[in-house]
Amino acid sequence: MIAVTGATGQLGRLVIDALADRVPSASIVAAVRRPAAAADLAARGFVVREADYDRPATLEAAFAGVRTLLLISSSDIGKRVAQHRAVIAAARAAGVTRIVYTSILGAADSPLMLAAEHRASEADLAASGLEFVLLRNGWYLENYQSAVGMAVQHGAVLGAAQSGQVSAAARRDYADAAASVLLRDDVPTGQVYELSGDSAFTMADLAAEIAGASGRQVSYVDMTPADYAGRLKELGLPDGLADVLADSDAGLAQGGLYGDSGDLAALIGRPTTAMPEFVVSALKG
Ligand SMILES: NC(=O)c1ccc[n+]([C@@H]2O[C@H](COP(=O)([O-])OP(=O)(O)OC[C@H]3O[C@@H](n4cnc5c(N)ncnc54)[C@H](OP(=O)(O)O)[C@@H]3O)[C@@H](O)[C@H]2O)c1
Repeated sequence: MIAVTGATGQLGRLVIDALADRVPSASIVAAVRRPAAAADLAARGFVVREADYDRPATLEAAFAGVRTLLLISSSDIGKRVAQHRAVIAAARAAGVTRIVYTSILGAADSPLMLAAEHRASEADLAASGLEFVLLRNGWYLENYQSAVGMAVQHGAVLGAAQSGQVSAAARRDYADAAASVLLRDDVPTGQVYELSGDSAFTMADLAAEIAGASGRQVSYVDMTPADYAGRLKELGLPDGLADVLADSDAGLAQGGLYGDSGDLAALIGRPTTAMPEFVVSALKG
């Protein structure tokens, strides 16, 4: 059996769908924090099991009979190293053979604050004695969904990315890549995939694309990371998230979210979703 943690999340649901296109749903464990949120998955024949990273007692039972586990990194920034460590320990105790882990693009030397927890979890996996594969995911295009809405309303894309380029791809692209790796039996242990979109764009490119597709005037307003974080807080984002987003933009400016390995397109067997295509769908809401 294959298990997917965070299966009620946005990436998790797309992975489950991609797997279900290729193998019976009864062979897929949706390992979820809140089984009540997975009633639809149970109705579709997936094996729904409770797996809360903060409650290690739930984890070993969730992984019983599982050969390959997709550990979707937690969204609980700051707690992730301990949470992932609990998952790795439970997987080993349950007899899981292989863990596939969603990390961050260029984790080994990424300037993004977010990368530190991923580096620690990658090291824990390497030390675990289990087979492991690293999916170092780049930025989701969907991260710019609210920027598209704001741009149309206010005529500006805000950020601190300077003229840095981001090689973003759609969440679905990363999900399809994860499903492909989970189902292949020729991926050697320790394999690292640097996953990113086929083409890169700057925030000014994004603003121009939104302008062209919406018919409004939109420009990119570059701020210092501190000013950008402050603006995001004024807009109502929690302090921690605003700081992480501003730091990520600063990392983007340094090339931390640029990739050209071609690994993502190769794994999914098609070009990745391009930014203009995303903008058109984001404008539709
Ligand atoms: N590459 C990128 O651009 C990017 C952007 C954002 C995040 N990420 C990372 O990629 C991951 C997947 O992205 P996403 O878009 O699917 O995020 P998401 O929709 O926020 O999903 C996060 C998943 O983590 C689960 N989770 C959180 N705390 C948990 C816990 N204590 N025990 C078990 N599960 C827990 C959530 O469970 P519930 O469904 O119960 O809430 C949810 O299913 C994120 O968690 C984050 O690490 C990457």
